[in-house]
This record gives sequence, C-alpha cells and structure tokens, in this order.
Amino acid sequence: MAEKFYITTPIYYVNDVPHIGHAYTTIAADILARYNRLKGKKVFFLTGTDEHGQKVEKAAQGKGLSPKEHADIMVENFRALWKKLNITNDAFIRTTDMEHIKTVQGLIQLLWDNGEIEKRQYSGWYCTPDERFWTEKDLVDGNCPDCGRAVEQIREENYFFLMSKYQDRLIKYIEDNPSYISPETRRNEVLGFLKNNTLGDLCISRPKARLAWGIPFSFDETFVTYVWFDALVNYFSATRYLAPHAEMARLGDFWWPADHHLVGKDILTTHAVYWSTMLMALNLPLPKNIFAHGWWTVDGKKMSKSFGNVVDPNVMAEKYGADAFRYFLFREVPFGLDGNFSEEALISRTNTDLANDLGNLLSRFLTMAEKYFSSIIEIPAGSSTELNPFAGECMYAMIPAVDDTHSADWSNLRFNIILDHIWSIIRAGNNHVAQKEPWKLAKTDVQELKSVMFNIWNALRLSAVALYPFMPDTAEKMWKQLGLKSLADETKQSLPGTLPPEANKYPKIYEWDWKPGYEIKVSKGEQLFPRIEVKKETGKEKEGKGPMTESEQVSAERKPEEINLITIEDFAKVQLKIGAVLQAERVPKSAKLIKLQVDTGEMRQVVAGIGQVYAPEDLVGKSIVVVTNLKPAKLMGVESQGMLLAATDSNGILSIVAPEKEVKAGAVIK
Ligand code: MSP
Repeated sequence: MAEKFYITTPIYYVNDVPHIGHAYTTIAADILARYNRLKGKKVFFLTGTDEHGQKVEKAAQGKGLSPKEHADIMVENFRALWKKLNITNDAFIRTTDMEHIKTVQGLIQLLWDNGEIEKRQYSGWYCTPDERFWTEKDLVDGNCPDCGRAVEQIREENYFFLMSKYQDRLIKYIEDNPSYISPETRRNEVLGFLKNNTLGDLCISRPKARLAWGIPFSFDETFVTYVWFDALVNYFSATRYLAPHAEMARLGDFWWPADHHLVGKDILTTHAVYWSTMLMALNLPLPKNIFAHGWWTVDGKKMSKSFGNVVDPNVMAEKYGADAFRYFLFREVPFGLDGNFSEEALISRTNTDLANDLGNLLSRFLTMAEKYFSSIIEIPAGSSTELNPFAGECMYAMIPAVDDTHSADWSNLRFNIILDHIWSIIRAGNNHVAQKEPWKLAKTDVQELKSVMFNIWNALRLSAVALYPFMPDTAEKMWKQLGLKSLADETKQSLPGTLPPEANKYPKIYEWDWKPGYEIKVSKGEQLFPRIEVKKETGKEKEGKGPMTESEQVSAERKPEEINLITIEDFAKVQLKIGAVLQAERVPKSAKLIKLQVDTGEMRQVVAGIGQVYAPEDLVGKSIVVVTNLKPAKLMGVESQGMLLAATDSNGILSIVAPEKEVKAGAVIK
C-alpha cells in the first residue's frame, strides 16, 4: 500500500478576509501536497476555517446576522481564493461542522473522565481581540503582550486542562525528536520557553452567559469551549469524517498523525505546547512535524489595516497570475524566515526569472524547432547521461529538485533551494543554446543540431515536471507546447482526493531517457510570462503585449543582478565604517534585538536584530561594519544610530560582516 502524506494549514478565522499570510501557508501546503501526489503517496491536504469565538460573534452582531450566517458568507472568500490560487485541498473543515463538534465534545468528555480537566475559580487579564488570558507578569506596559491592546480583569469559574503536568514530558519529547519543531531556531525558542518558565494549566472554557458562540460541554451545558481547544482538534477530527477513506481511518488510524502542521510563527506556541500536551493527555500520537514560517512585511512595514497596506492575494493573482505570485512567495524568501513583500520585487522576479530565463528558453526553442525541423523533435535512443555532459548537468540539478530520498530539501521545506535547483536546469538550457549556437549548426551540422534541440526539449520537459508543484498552470502549458499530452494525465494522482493508480510514477517522468525512438511535434503556444513594463511616470505597470521584440529579448537576457543598477554616486551616499563593539546587551522583552555600544570613530548606539543567532557576550570585542549615516530610528523604544551589516544565505544562516584583517575603529569603507 502506498505511503500516506497528511498536511494541514491553520484554520483561518472567518472574521476577516483572506490576506497574503493566509495565502502563504496554504500555497506551501499545496506545493507539498502536489509534490507528494507526484511521488505516488496517498495525500490528504486539509485547510478550513475557525468559526467560533467572540470576534465572530461580535462581527455577526454588527451586521445583524447570526454567527453561523456570518460565517457562511465569509467562508466563501476563502473557498474562492483557494480556487483562484489553484489550491488542491482534499477537504475543507469548518469548526461548525456537526461531526467536528461531536469529536470535540467526545474528547473533552474523555479528558474529564480521565481526570485531565478540572473546574476552578479563575481570575486573570483577558485580551478580548485575541481571546486569551494573560497573567500579570505576561503583560507589557499593562497591555496584551501579543497585540499590545488593552486587557480587562475577569474573575469567573472555568474548566482547565491540566497542561502543566506534561511540561517535562514535552521537553523530553522535543529533545528526543529533533525534527518535531522546525526550523531549528523556532525549536530552540520553544525549548527555551519550556525550560525557563513554569507551564500553567490551560483554560479551555467560557461561561455560556458571556460567550454563547462555542461548543457546549456535554457534561455541563452552562459552559462552552471555543478557539484553541476547538480549533486545534480540527486536525484530528477531519481524519474521522473528511479524509479520503475516513472509514478506514476510524478503524486503523490511517491518516493520523499529520506529517506536517504548517503554521505562522505567531501560533507556534499554541501548536507546539497546547496541542502537543492535549495529544499526550489523549494518548494520541503527536504530529511528525510542526513547521513555523515567518511573516511578510509589506514595503518594509508590518502589514495592518491601519497602515492600509494589507496585500490582497486575489488582486495579486489577477494582476500577475497565480503562478507568478506562488513563485515569488517561495523563491524570494526561505520558508521559515520573515520576508518583505513589494510589487516591485514581484515584478522584478517575474521579469528576470520567469520571462527571461524560463519563458525565453521555451520560446526560443519553439521558434528554432519550427524554423529548422518544422516543429518535429526526434528522441534519440539510449541517450545516456555519461555520454551527454549536458544531460549529466541537468540530472545533477534535477535529482535534488524532485527526489527526497537523495536530498533533504523537501523534508526540510527548503522551497527556495529547490527552485534554485530547477533554475540550474533552466540556466543550463540557456547556456547550451549560447554555446552550441544552433543557428550556426543549421548550416554546418544538422545531426548535431538535432541532438542539441533534443537536449533543450528535454531540459524544458524536466523543468516542467519539477516546477509542477510550484507553478502547476505553467508546467501544464509547457508540457503541452513540448508536444506532450497532459502533465496531469501523466500524474493522475495529482488531482485532489484521488489515489494514485500505481505507486510512484514520478521517477519515470523525471529520468532523462524519454520514450526513445519517438518523434514529437512541438507547438508554439501562448507566451508563458509576458514582460511586465513599469511606466516610470505613474509607477503603474502594464502587461507586456505578445511575443518579445528582438530588442526586448536582448534586454531580457540581462542577468538578475543587473536589474536595479545604481550609480557610483548613489552608492557614495551610503557611509560605511568599521566599528568596534565595546558593550552589548539584549533589549528587554525582545528575542531578536541586541543593543550595542560601538566605536566608529565616535561612540554610537546600534540596535541589531541578531539576538537569535548571537549572544551579547560573543559580540563584545568584535569589529563590524556599520552604516553610519542612517537616520536614527527607534526599535522597541530603543534608539539605533546606525545599522550593522550582516548576511543571510539561502539556508537562513546569518553572519555578521567583518573586516578581513585588523583595521582601526572608524576606518571608512569605500
Ligand atoms: N484560527 C487561528 C489558527 C487556528 S489553527 C488550529 C488563526 N487564524 S488566522 O486567520 O489569524 O490565521 C492566521 C495565519 O496567518 C497564521 O498562521 C499567521 O501566522 C498567518 N499570518 C498572519 N499574518 C501574516 C503575515 N503578515 N505573514 C505571514 N503569515 C501571517 O490564527
């Protein structure tokens, strides 16, 4: 029987419309679902909505609707977006589903019967928007430590899940299972939190009189459970009634536990601590992995309604196409780190990587195929990778891009690196054209020209296979233009909910040899990614218009680094100096920020976001590079008079930039 793969996204609150954060996790899950279907696994990809709680109740009241009526309307925004972004979720759970409600009630009853829940008098500081209680010492300046908003003191009876008794077991579990929480920095944060704090018990109820919109306790109808206890259980309850072969799941626990829970970094604690201990108390296996991704800022600022900079994924997909948007999100920033979103960056990526590198290779190939061979490509017999260095080069990149038995990139969700492997194939294809100069071969060596054309055809075919999880529409278009029937047909199992007709078809379509002896009729189709021209005067972009002209092709062949060139005068505006770190300490209440006293010829205070990688004591005595003419800025209320330079590579490794030999503090860099 084929292996199973169960992947989840958070379930999203229905009190808001979807934004880039929702799209980010859901596309990541889709990439993994599609990849694993290609691998021949039985996939269950779950997303859905979180519909109980005060916020939904209030929003509904404001519109004169019942909470369920309100949820019924809002949920459609998510469904419509997932369709637009080509998301192949197998199921969509709503916490108002009767089967889910029954599962939650059953599990609470079980915990109550087993003495894992207690009723207690409780008083605490409550953040209504976040629907969470905080203790006095959690508060920051008297406000909610998460959202900064005002909290109110509440005293009432409530039910508590006795989470505290699982503290040591959870620490041990995380220590014994290094891949349980990732990325590693997040795992260390959770461990640090668990080791340095006493875990409390978890309040899982609200008196019905105060909050009606929750799931009633079966043994005490005057209380409801809501938000976290209700929401987290979705991952389990879906396997009971929504998964393919749910009846099998009930008998044999086929789907549970999940392979990955994908979540944003802000909800890691609820998953890594609340959910893990709930599962321990229920004697259920823990998920194999909880992956916390970073957050997107927009044009350098936190995304928020009050800044008016919330990115609507619907608009991005309509403007630039779902595939370009999907590609950008996973190429631009390593999954796990924070990133900055801007339309300029998206346009630049689309033009360089998609229009120039990929689109150009395909369109040049098809033009040459038409011109030299009336669009017929011959597939040579037994073209071995040893005898064909180009094939060797392509396969060297292809294997880690598609085969998780040879590379850890897929299991570690290193999407940007996988895309980089795929781009090595595309770049190799472009270089092959430049080196072999087919237009000359057409006059001197037609046999060689045939093999060059086959090579490029095959590099494009392999790229389409590898790109499929990321850019399914593009992969399908390429596949058809390359004269192949349908990539989806090739990989029937890639349709949601269906099970593979035969296990593991993937290796067959990613190997270099492809149906030897065939002749394939290729055909020029629509351009994959027309260049997006940015009109300088208005800052508005217009869609490219049909095939590129020759001059556009020349400019399209520029390397990505040549885009956004600046002049030497621009560079000279930045003043860089060597600084000697004399003192360093953490900024209170911040995991990231370190305050440095730096001698750059004059004393200055620099605040740097390197606290998750460097300890203050490691920094004292170091020589660093500082931008000394930046406008001072306040970070968490602490003034920074400059910026330290550090590099982050595609693995997320961060390193401070330092001079190669000893130079005096204050030395000017130019
Ligand atoms: N309902 C809870 C999750 C329950 S899961 C059992 C919830 N819902 S939410 O609608 O607020 O979803 C938030 C998701 O979007 C989180 O994973 C969060 O990290 C993510 N993002 C919100 N803003 C984001 C960015 N600016 N960037 C990336 N993701 C962000 O929380």
